[in-house]
This record gives sequence, structure tokens and C-alpha cells, in this order.
Amino acid sequence: MKKTILVTSLIVSLLTLVSCGKETIASRATKKGLEIGTAYASDIFDPEGQERIKEFSNILVAENFMKCANLRPNAKFWNWSDIDHSIEFAEKNNIQMKFHTMFWHQQNSSFINNMKSKEEALEIMDNHIITIMDHLKGKIKVYDVVNEMFEEDGSFRKSIWYNLLGEEYIAHALTVASEHNSGAKLYLNEYNNECVGYPKADAMYNFVKSLKEKGVPIDGVGMQLHLSTDLPFDPDAIRANCKRYADIGIEISFSEVDVRLPASKFKDPEEIKKQEYIYTTLLDIALTEPNVKSFIVWGMYDRTSWVPATFGGYGNACIYDVEYNKKPVYEAMFEQLK
Ligand code: XIL
Repeated sequence: MKKTILVTSLIVSLLTLVSCGKETIASRATKKGLEIGTAYASDIFDPEGQERIKEFSNILVAENFMKCANLRPNAKFWNWSDIDHSIEFAEKNNIQMKFHTMFWHQQNSSFINNMKSKEEALEIMDNHIITIMDHLKGKIKVYDVVNEMFEEDGSFRKSIWYNLLGEEYIAHALTVASEHNSGAKLYLNEYNNECVGYPKADAMYNFVKSLKEKGVPIDGVGMQLHLSTDLPFDPDAIRANCKRYADIGIEISFSEVDVRLPASKFKDPEEIKKQEYIYTTLLDIALTEPNVKSFIVWGMYDRTSWVPATFGGYGNACIYDVEYNKKPVYEAMFEQLK
């Protein structure tokens, strides 16, 4: 009897050791109930990229594949193949999927940019929502229904949708999406909306609150968080913003996090520490504010990151470097998730 107990406990210890050896950011975050992940591009189709994705992510979002210009290059053709393949990979590896994005002012096909009337816009909008939600039924955890609907001063962005349908287009899109939804969460996503007191952040909060009061179906707000080590970072204002959304029953996604460095300081230890501080402070907010559901990094690694092409003179914004090596920030986040 004693021998059996000894052997059993040896086996259990061995198994624990083996599984500890395999712990990753993804597995630790899953245990903590946090969705963590990355925006993927074609890295999802190469073996090294797949390994890194599995190590880091329990949720994935397409960096570009789901946007209108890619998914629907013209009014008749739907380009599902990249999306379907990535969903297959995700399902096989127990990774959830987020859809980004149904409606935006950028990366639209010309038939969208050329819409002329309210009737035409409504027809295309409804058809877009219904076709996507039917095709992806049961496979998506969160939909970004509308992306970047505000200007910095808090006024509505004059997108093609706004110009033809007025601000009502947002409530309409959420309502139609909820009528065709099968259990996914419906989000609005934005940048520079993370700090209480900033005009765009306050406008978005007030707008979302008014949607809730009117009974428009909305579950969450995405804060993109494209940050820089040489710009002010105010975690208290971010936390306060998450809390006020919690008070009105809205969940939050840190939806496109990246923290860029000025090129002249790529090797500066102080700057690298600053980057680590920003990532880990955001992760701390995500782990301690119950309505913050996900932490998604915008791009798996520095080689394909959108940052250098968008913010001239900046880069090194991701968790993995250009060769897919883990940066110290990976280890810091890994420790934090223990
Ligand atoms: C960016 C992609 O990363 C680029 O590859 C693409 O050329 C342009 O769009 N906010 C968003 C994302 O919501 O969709 C954007 O992604 C980055 C800013």
C-alpha cells in the first residue's frame, strides 16, 4: 500500500514538473481567467510563428484579414480562405478568436467608399453584418463592430458611415449584430480613449453610457493603447476609466497594445525598462480590474510590426524581437502571471 502511494506521488510530482516546464504566458493567463494574445498576420501560416502564437495567446485577432478591403474586395466576392484557415488553427489549439473589424473609416473597398445614399449604406451594412455572423457562427468570442468612431476633440469622426447615416449608424450596427449574434460580445474599439479626462475618452464613455441607457446592445469597449516610451503614461487615469465602465456594466479589452521606443534608444537600458514598466503596469490593471477581459498585443514580433512604417523613427514595440526572441518584457509578464 505504502509503495503504491509512494509511486503515485512520484508520478504526480513528475507530471507536475513536466507541465510546469511547459508553462507559458498563454497557459498562465488562461489559469487566471485573462484573455491574452496577439494580432496575427501571415505568421499564423509558418511553423515558427505558430509556436510563438501558441506560447503567447489564448485569443487571436487578425491584423488585416478581417477588414473590409481584405474580406470583401468587391460587393460580390467574400475572401474567407485566410480567415477560415486561421480559425482552424485556433480551434485545434484551443485559442479563441476576435473579429476586427466590421466598420471603420480605413481599409475599405471602393464599393464602400463610393456609397451614395442612406438606403444603399443601410443595405450594405446589414448585409455585411449578417454574412459575417452567419459564416462565423459560434466561432468568434468578440466582434469589434465599429472601430475609431471619434475625433480627438470628442466629436464623431466623419466617416463614410457617419456621413450617410449620422451617429445612429453605431446603434444600428450594434442592434443588427445582436439580432444575428450567437453568444459573442459586441464591442466598440478606439485609440486615445484610455485616460479619464481626455476629451475623446470622456466623449466615448458618455456615448457608451447613453447607448446602455437606451437599451442598445453593447458589451464592451476596446482601448487600443498604441503607446510610446517617450510620451506621458498615466496608469491611474487608465484604471479610473476602466472602473467607470465597470460601474455601467461595460467590459474592457486592452485591444491593440504596443509600446514603441525611439530608434536612437533601442539599446538604452533605461528605455527598455520603461517599456517593460508600461507593459507590466497595463497587465497589472488587466489582472486587477475585473471588467478588463483581454490584453492583446498588436503584432507578434518586431519584424512585421506596423509601428516603424506608421511612426517614423520608432520601433521595437512588440514582446518578441525581429528574430522571434523573447524580450525581457516576456519574462516579466510571465512572472507576473504566476
Ligand atoms: C493596422 C495594421 O497593423 C497595418 O498592417 C495596416 O496597414 C493598417 O492597419 N488601429 C486599428 C488597426 O484598429 O486595425 C490598425 O492596424 C492599427 C491602428
